[in-house]
Amino acid sequence: MTATLLKSNDKKNSPTDKEIKNFLNGLGRLDSNFDANILKPYLHHNNKDIRFLAIKNIGKIKDIECLDIAKLVYEKDPSSMVRRESVSTIGRMKSEEIIPILIKILDDNDPKIVLQAIRGLLPFKNRKIVINAFESVKNHPNEIIKEIVNIELSPPKKTNKNYLEAHDFLKNVIVNGDVREVLKLIPEDSMHLSFTSPPYYNARDYSIYKSYNEYLEFLSEVFKELYRVTKEGRFFILNTSPVIVPRTGRKYSSKRYAIPFDIHTRLVAMGWEFVDDIIWLKPEGSAKNRIGGFIQHRRPLAYKPNIVTEYLMVYRKNTGRLIDWNIKQYDEEVVESSKVLGEYDHTNVWKINPDHDDIHPAVFPEELCDKVIKYYSYKKDLVFDPFSGSGTLAKSALKLGRYFFLSEIQEKYFNRIKEKLVELPLDKIKKPKFINLTQFKGEIQ
Ligand SMILES: C[S@@+](CC[C@H](N)C(=O)[O-])C[C@H]1O[C@@H](n2cnc3c(N)ncnc32)[C@H](O)[C@@H]1O
Repeated sequence: MTATLLKSNDKKNSPTDKEIKNFLNGLGRLDSNFDANILKPYLHHNNKDIRFLAIKNIGKIKDIECLDIAKLVYEKDPSSMVRRESVSTIGRMKSEEIIPILIKILDDNDPKIVLQAIRGLLPFKNRKIVINAFESVKNHPNEIIKEIVNIELSPPKKTNKNYLEAHDFLKNVIVNGDVREVLKLIPEDSMHLSFTSPPYYNARDYSIYKSYNEYLEFLSEVFKELYRVTKEGRFFILNTSPVIVPRTGRKYSSKRYAIPFDIHTRLVAMGWEFVDDIIWLKPEGSAKNRIGGFIQHRRPLAYKPNIVTEYLMVYRKNTGRLIDWNIKQYDEEVVESSKVLGEYDHTNVWKINPDHDDIHPAVFPEELCDKVIKYYSYKKDLVFDPFSGSGTLAKSALKLGRYFFLSEIQEKYFNRIKEKLVELPLDKIKKPKFINLTQFKGEIQ
């Protein structure tokens, strides 16, 4: 800092740092009549928290007379926290004079400082000079800066598309076919929510792929198309977990594939925005015993815990709009009737017992589908399971007043869905339609 800003606080009997902080914290709201000279000496204090509070309070005064001092703090203070606050202080002055200063700050190395400068420039965002400055950072290496600037330069347009409506030919339909073929026939922006558990990699007999890469390519093909058919800003919840392919002989090791982590980067590259990871926690008794050997030998490196979790990775179709925009599309009545009342999960760990089916080897517990549908969709929405197996998602959807659309490649599981849905009282809903791919093509044309 320059000599003008730096003066050591060496007076005898001067207040303690705590006292100064209490004083600065206690100032509350300040108006333009407040004398900034009371605060300026604290900008030279050697405690950065005190300098921070001083510049913060100067910001509350919103006095353009303090522009030079705030600029000096930005240029000279060694603490990035204090410099950041000085940029906020400059932004709060909301006067023409701050525009060239904030534009210069867009070159700062600290992304948080750049974001603060962008914030300060927003009240002037229609000025040519600010538009040009935003253009100059629209390819900024920092992803948040890039996203914000691009939204400001081309805000999401008003749209005539009706994001609420679902096509009738998709409502309560189950197609027996390869999802890759099915997806080709589905128009874009059709689905409100998708929840699926894809086939495993070589862990069950229904899933044979030449290589792990081929498996990931297959999933990527499906999830790319899923992105296209998903409505703007809506969710896709993917249930996966790492799998173990057992060793082929005593000489070799078993192999573990981290499917959720490997597929994640591909999903993000497609445009899916990562939102949350939810852990499905099962009781220990339901897990395959891997810890048995360790119990005996207790040798480090050969530790193999029992696996009692699966992931529910939550993604949202990319949009410049907030979730509020999605919610505002609905009538008040639908919002009211879809509210999640009573008990709900406070954390991202959901304790749910696994379920068993006589025909299908790996079914969703209905409780899991119920939760996903309740948290991530509204009444009358269309929910989709591309790898629907025994059709648990459909059962939950009907129960919770949503429509469903399913695809399943294997006839035996397709037939199992029929049995499962027949158990439900179906008189008040659109009757489920079980069709093959050719019939589905016919429905659409
Ligand atoms: C893990 S299971 C889903 C189970 C389901 N969540 C349930 O509750 O029953 C995956 C399903 O994907 C199906 N599948 C595999 N490849 C497929 C494909 N290309 N198209 C459609 N379904 C496929 C399998 O037959 C299997 O039933």
